[in-house]
Amino acid sequence: MVKIAPSILSCDFANLGEQIRLVEQAGCDLLHIDVMDGRFVDNISFGPVILGAVNRVTDLPLDVHLMIMEPEKHVRKFRENGADMISIHTEAVKDPLPVLREIRSLGALAGAAINPNTGMDGIVKYLHEIDFVLVMGVYPGRSGQKFIEAAAPKIGTLRKTINERGLDVKLEVDGGINPSTVQEVARAGVDIIVAGDAIFKSRDPASAIRELKKLTTM
Ligand code: DX5
Ligand code: ZN
Repeated sequence: MVKIAPSILSCDFANLGEQIRLVEQAGCDLLHIDVMDGRFVDNISFGPVILGAVNRVTDLPLDVHLMIMEPEKHVRKFRENGADMISIHTEAVKDPLPVLREIRSLGALAGAAINPNTGMDGIVKYLHEIDFVLVMGVYPGRSGQKFIEAAAPKIGTLRKTINERGLDVKLEVDGGINPSTVQEVARAGVDIIVAGDAIFKSRDPASAIRELKKLTTM
């Protein structure tokens, strides 16, 4: 069953606790937390303090997507504030492997995030050292963008490589996922679907989650 991870970046921050309860009760599987530093991407979102606040109001696993430079300086703080999964962008570091190893050594699942224009060759060589790959469906920086079609075949290729090697590496897709794009990525073999606007900007976030889930099974 494909898991649904609402991205709180699209939620009503004045009612953060309430918004989290809503999606938790609707049966989402984890929460996606978008951290932006104004350097790796133009926007600035939030950091470990907000993550800690989220952690106090939910039992859902917390999937922290670091869109930041120098992630090695910050991973420990995010882990201490409740991150269960941490992804770093391979474009943000010279060598992602030491940071990915550190994330694992801190007891979290380690993920390599790749932008739409980043090829897969870089990560394929250390697939055996990571827990998940986060394939971006848009250029990171904000929610509500259109899905870039080239991401779907990338998921298919990675799925095939992972299966052929008998690895337990999950595939997560992030950006531009809504009822019209979700089936394509589900068929390509994704395990976790991130959705921001499609959930929090819909009139009924609970039914939006149920619809996305149902579509992945069809
Ligand atoms: C983009 C973020 C995404 C984004 C998803 O920079 O990493 O997680 O919030 O939002 P939607 O689903 O609206 O594209
Ligand atoms: Zn994200």
